[in-house]
Amino acid sequence: MNHFLDLWPIPAGELRSILDNAKSRKAARAGLPKGAADKDAPLGGHTLAMIFEKNSTRTRVSFDMAIRQLGGTSLIISASDSQISRGESIEDTARVLSRYVDAVMMRANRHADVEAFAAAASVPVINGLTEKSHPCQIMADLQTLEEAGLNLKGARIAWVGDGNNVAASFIHAAPKFGFSLAVGTPAGYEPNAADVQRARAEQGRIELFRDAAKAVAGADVVVADTFVSMGDKDADKRLQDLAPFKVSGELMRRANGGAMFLHCLPAHRGEEVDADVIDGPQSLIFDEAENRLHAQKAILEWCLKG
Ligand code: CP
Ligand code: NVA
Repeated sequence: MNHFLDLWPIPAGELRSILDNAKSRKAARAGLPKGAADKDAPLGGHTLAMIFEKNSTRTRVSFDMAIRQLGGTSLIISASDSQISRGESIEDTARVLSRYVDAVMMRANRHADVEAFAAAASVPVINGLTEKSHPCQIMADLQTLEEAGLNLKGARIAWVGDGNNVAASFIHAAPKFGFSLAVGTPAGYEPNAADVQRARAEQGRIELFRDAAKAVAGADVVVADTFVSMGDKDADKRLQDLAPFKVSGELMRRANGGAMFLHCLPAHRGEEVDADVIDGPQSLIFDEAENRLHAQKAILEWCLKG
């Protein structure tokens, strides 16, 4: 069963072919209205269910449009008005939904719940963000960087701010795609140590810094994300602790000339990034957001067609 829960278990060659398929599908439908299906409509007759335990704009709309463009249909389930919020088990929910739909995308508070769902389901399950990772986001990010001309092999990407779920998926991607990752965080906000250890064991080049300027030195790409993720309780402390890791124009000038800027969005201008950077010429954020659609179409096709 092709679940897309994290990048770890997926061979590098398969991830490469997912990215290539995302790019060729995107090119093949150029000029079509967004609601029109791709000519080959490979997932005709398939339905994707999406379960949301947390808010979403991009993931929700891009997956909805993705399955439609592949010829299928979607349905959206808010955890709060399903029986999940009244205590029905994840496993029973997974078994029942597997009888109705062809694949499930889940955005969950607890990563362990997505894993439990996948273990009980008899259809492919996709992680649409948990507190631990956001693998779909990273596929879109890598597509965006390649389209902008970056050769991922040997490139240097700097992550600045909180060592959070999105940072984790960058760490997982580093050994798969051959880029080196410099992570700059304050003490106490480092990425998951087991992720770093595993990436290094798989020949990933991961460097950790306690200084934003050191992290971005020599970087081809600078990546920021919110300082307060969904589910974080200590917003005031985080904003204070992470303030020195804001991506400003001055910090961008310490990266390589013409370095690209990414942010998965939603953004908080003036907190984790200044407006002149995120709205400036080095920023790729709207191509990045668009590529959620294209990357996820390739993920859906991989899940359902191998
Ligand atoms: N980047 C991202 O996942 O956005 P949403 O929270 O809007 O889905
Ligand atoms: N790190 C953020 C990403 C949002 C897409 C969060 O988890 O809220």
